Amino acid sequence: MLVSARSFAEYRAMFALTERDLEQRVLDCPAGAASFVAEAGQRGVDAVAVDRQYAEHREELGLLVERETEFKRERLVKETVGYARAWYADADDMIRQWTANARAFRADIAARPERYLAGSLPELPFADDSFDLALSSHLLFSYGNRLGREFHRAGLLELARVARREVRIFPLVVYDTGARYEGLAPLREELAELGVPSRVERVAYEFQPGADEMLVLSSAGYRAPARTAPGAAGADDPVRWRHREPRA
Ligand SMILES: C[S@@+](CC[C@H](N)C(=O)[O-])C[C@H]1O[C@@H](n2cnc3c(N)ncnc32)[C@H](O)[C@@H]1O
Repeated sequence: MLVSARSFAEYRAMFALTERDLEQRVLDCPAGAASFVAEAGQRGVDAVAVDRQYAEHREELGLLVERETEFKRERLVKETVGYARAWYADADDMIRQWTANARAFRADIAARPERYLAGSLPELPFADDSFDLALSSHLLFSYGNRLGREFHRAGLLELARVARREVRIFPLVVYDTGARYEGLAPLREELAELGVPSRVERVAYEFQPGADEMLVLSSAGYRAPARTAPGAAGADDPVRWRHREPRA
């Protein structure tokens, strides 16, 4: 799994964020080394970042992402041919932008550590309704060929539990194949039965060709059941820092 570093502008487009949305308390999970929270803070937005990696790596995560992105330059150049033309002139430009975003992240996590919390879906360290809006990019559905259906169900419900208004997830396609996550329709039906209706919306952002839709969960009517046991429904797809591994 990759730790990426998208920008505030990319988040705004991916999640169709309006000025009104940004007046609310926002959760970014998983935030990786994205600069959304850093740039949001500069605009006075009340935003908090959560990622599993913050338990092990905090201040150094930005640097690791910079090194890893550079290390994977060749692969990224190959993989991103034809991708995200509206955002990146070419793969080199993408690497430049992600490096700058990772640096902004690094400065902010050092300056405002309270805005960056270690946490793992599907169990977040927040009370119900702690946020108005939760944003989740490039984990759920993206890693749908490695993270199981139960992880998706529990992860989405957990985000709905901590967000009192809405949860937005982008994209709806599996990273490796570019195909829409297969279990999306039955999952949406199940969530609706549990009091979390949803809709799919087109957005003005595309990383993989044709992947320009987000899922919006309306969480206002959701009342999560009390937790019975910790550690439910986890699935593991650890981040690998390939630049730190011996060369094959
Ligand atoms: C591809 S990055 C996306 C980061 C950011 N949203 C972006 O678009 O730049 C995926 C992130 O998911 C995090 N992650 C993986 N499993 C997680 C889990 N169960 N709970 C929280 N974060 C997780 C990884 O550490 C990684 O930073």
